Amino acid sequence: MTQILDGKLLAQTMQGEIAAQVAELTETLGIRPGLAAVLVGDNPASQVYVRNKRKACDQAGIQSWLHQLPADTTQPDLLHLIAQLNTDPQVSGILVQLPLPIGIDESAIIDAVAPLKDVDGFGPQSLGLLTAGTPRFLPCTPFGVQQILVRNNIRVEGQHVVIVGRSNIVGKPLALLLMQKGEGGNATVTVCHSKTPDIAALTKQADIVVVAIGQARFLKKDMIRPGAVVVDVGINRTPDGKLVGDVDFDGVKEIASAITPVPGGIGPMTITMLLHNTLRAAILQHAV
Ligand code: GUN
Repeated sequence: MTQILDGKLLAQTMQGEIAAQVAELTETLGIRPGLAAVLVGDNPASQVYVRNKRKACDQAGIQSWLHQLPADTTQPDLLHLIAQLNTDPQVSGILVQLPLPIGIDESAIIDAVAPLKDVDGFGPQSLGLLTAGTPRFLPCTPFGVQQILVRNNIRVEGQHVVIVGRSNIVGKPLALLLMQKGEGGNATVTVCHSKTPDIAALTKQADIVVVAIGQARFLKKDMIRPGAVVVDVGINRTPDGKLVGDVDFDGVKEIASAITPVPGGIGPMTITMLLHNTLRAAILQHAV
């Protein structure tokens, strides 16, 4: 029987754990973690993501603020807002929802977020620390992928993980995370991408396949070996409006030993790890 890795249920459990820790922090030290979400423009998917993130904050007892800016916001205006949030003692974490409108240099904005408030884990310090094997804030989606494996007792150590996709948000940091020493690490990792000549030849060798390339139903049944674990990071809308992942779920689930669904797999885990990082940010800032 193929195990369906229920990210929604695990996210609920973990968000309950985070809520208890937030309550304790607030009671014992009078600290209330807070997340400032910045949304520029009117990308409908981004609006939904930010709304879901704020709702989860609210349920966990984390304060949140939405800074919604028009699509024609200039880079200096956005940098000015980030500078204000960087010094606001109420704000533990800053989330700038990506993508940003054309004309704004994303890396300049990411670089401007104070390193101790970088709860997305996209900034140069967060990435450098992860690369060095001493992470501070892990990027939320890779962290969520690792946690769904670990909390379902799926062994990562010594396993061959093939990641399809090399983005700065998912593929690249996930490779670093799964190959680092320690629990949930010690994997042998292969990263393939759009210029890899034969992706299937690699995914067929994998114990665990993670797909994050943004192509609906890309990974087919004949691209994995029977018994492989399959993690689907994609969220795509088909022409008929259906939400599907990067994995052909119905086909692949016939031969995988475990698989994450879309929706209800990695999406809720990403939100959960954002709450985890925001709580940690509040604690770290209290200590300095
Ligand atoms: N856009 C797509 N995924 C993410 C994410 O995890 N964080 C932010 N800030 N933007 C995103």
